[in-house]
Amino acid sequence: MITEILNFVEEHEQWRGRECINLIPSENIMSPQVRSLLSSEIGHRYTSPGRFYMGTRLIDEIERFGEEIAMKLFKAETADLRPLSGHIADLIFLANMAKRGDVLMCVSADDGGYPGIWRGGLPSVLGLEVEAFPFSKDRMNIQVNKAQEAIVKVKPKVIVFGASLFLFPHPVSELTEAARAVGACVGFDGSHVMGLIAGERFQSPLQDGSSVLFGSTHKTFFGPQGGIILADEEVGTVLKEKIYPVFVDNAHWNRITALTLALAEMEKFGSVYAGQVIRNSQALGRALDDYGFPVVGSSLGYTESHQVLMNFGGYKRGREVAEKLEKSNIIADCGVRLGTSEVTRRGMKEGEMEKIAQLIKEVIIDEKASSKVRAEVEDLAEEFQKVNYCFQT
Ligand SMILES: Cc1ncc(COP(=O)(O)O)c(C=O)c1O
Repeated sequence: MITEILNFVEEHEQWRGRECINLIPSENIMSPQVRSLLSSEIGHRYTSPGRFYMGTRLIDEIERFGEEIAMKLFKAETADLRPLSGHIADLIFLANMAKRGDVLMCVSADDGGYPGIWRGGLPSVLGLEVEAFPFSKDRMNIQVNKAQEAIVKVKPKVIVFGASLFLFPHPVSELTEAARAVGACVGFDGSHVMGLIAGERFQSPLQDGSSVLFGSTHKTFFGPQGGIILADEEVGTVLKEKIYPVFVDNAHWNRITALTLALAEMEKFGSVYAGQVIRNSQALGRALDDYGFPVVGSSLGYTESHQVLMNFGGYKRGREVAEKLEKSNIIADCGVRLGTSEVTRRGMKEGEMEKIAQLIKEVIIDEKASSKVRAEVEDLAEEFQKVNYCFQT
C-alpha cells in the first residue's frame, strides 16, 4: 500500500516533472526553495486572529513580511495571503461586495470567463444575477462602448474583469467611470495573469481603477497553489475583517510561507520573467500559425499574455488534439489553450517555442508515431530541468 502510493508519486514526478513539456496555462513550477517550504514544520501549525493559539510568534512575522512584499509588489494598500485558492478569493470578493438579488457583470463562460463566477457557479449560491460584458470574439476582448452602455443600463453592484481564456488586457480604465457612476464595486480576477501583473508586463488593475485584485498564486505567478487579495484601503479593510471566520479558518501557513518567498522571487525576477513569458507565447503563436494551425488573433499579434489559443471549432476536436499531444508528452488542455509560463520558468526562449510548434505539427499534422515524438520531447525537456528566475536552485 505504502509502496504503491510512493510509486505513484515517484512515477508522476519523473513523467510530468522531467519528461513532459507542460503547456497548461493554469500551471507553473515552484523553485526548489519555495517547494521545500511547503513541507516545513510550519505546516503543522494553527494561528488565528486575536492569537487564540500560542506559539505563533514566527509565523506572525512571516505573515507580516509576506503582506508587506505583496503590497509593495502590486502597489496595493492592503494585502491578504489567506485565501486558500483563487476560487475562494472570488468568493470572498463577491460575498462581501454584493448581496442576494444584486447583479454581477463579468465575461461570460462562453467568451472565456471563469465558470466559477458564471451561472451555476458562485453566483448561484450567493443569489446573484449575472450579466455578461458585451464581448468581441474577433478582438478577444470586452467591447468598450457597448459595455459602457450595458453598465449604465444594468447597474451592476459588482463588476469583475479578468477571465480564464485571457489573451489581451481588459479595458479597466475605460470602464471605471461608468462603474463608479452606477455605484458598482470593481474587482479584477487576475488568477491567470497575476505573475504578468507583478512583473508589470500586462496591465495594472489597481492603478487603472479596480478596487480589488484577487486570484490564484500558481498560474503565471509561480508560487504554491493558493489565493491572494490585493486591494485599496477602503475595500481591503472590509475584506480583511470579514475573511475570518467565514471564508478561511486555518490559512495553511506552510503555503503562506512558500508564497512569501515566491513574492520575494517575483519582486526580484518578475519583470524579466514576465517579459520572456509574453515573448514566448507570441513566438509560439506565430510558429503554430505558420504551420497552418487555427491560432486565434493573428492580426493582433496572437496574444499579450502567457496564453495562445488554437480554435479547433469545439470541445470534441479540442479533446482529440489534446489527447494526441498527451501521448507524445506534450501536455495541454482541451481548449486548446497553450500556456508558456512553465516552459519559460524552465529557461526556454523563442527558439524553443519554434521547436515546440514543430513537435506539435509532427503530432497533429504529420501524424508521426507518438513514440518518436515522445523521444524528441523528452530530449528537449531534459535540457531544461533547472528552475530560473529564483535565488538559487
Ligand atoms: C479566472 C479564474 N479565476 C479563478 C480560478 C480558480 O482558481 P483556483 O484554481 O486557484 O481556485 C480560475 C481557475 O482556473 C480561473 O481561471
